[in-house]
Amino acid sequence: MATAVYPGSFDPITCGHLDIIRRAACQFDRVIIAVLNNTSKKPMFSVQERVQLIRKSIADLPNCSAEYFDGLLVDFVHQKQSHTVVKGLRAISDFEYEFQMALLNKKMAPDVETVFMVTNANYSYISSSIVKEIASLGGDFSDLVPAEIYDDVKLKIKEGR
Ligand code: PNS
Repeated sequence: MATAVYPGSFDPITCGHLDIIRRAACQFDRVIIAVLNNTSKKPMFSVQERVQLIRKSIADLPNCSAEYFDGLLVDFVHQKQSHTVVKGLRAISDFEYEFQMALLNKKMAPDVETVFMVTNANYSYISSSIVKEIASLGGDFSDLVPAEIYDDVKLKIKEGR
């Protein structure tokens, strides 16, 4: 059974992320969305909230699940008996950083492959940061996040005011 791990910060999950998840779900038996419990960044949503938002968004995808991880991604991948990391590439600007991470992960865990999926052109301009910026400035972000989590993002912005 081929299991892929799709890692990220997901603060919050966007339509671009969900597009990658849906496509990965067709390519692998199981997809685990792995939310980094990053202590250095100051996220808008706690790691538990980010996992919950993803779970709401993937409710119709029976072979996908979401959880959070600490530490090295490759350790988490091994823990899940997986050999594949899936990443989405939006633009050339993503490439340098993703290439560096893929090479480092390969050095630490030669049995783990990083598979890049090119983002659907409709979503290539979306990022979690853009969603947070538009939402906090009162703009319409309904096309940028999964419908299931729109109200949660709105509420979080309201609470933060
Ligand atoms: O959505 P992001 O913030 O671009 O995701 C980055 C992520 C979570 C994939 C990356 O920071 C990561 O894998 N962190 C875990 C720690 C680790 O393994 N670092 C070494 C990778 S080179």
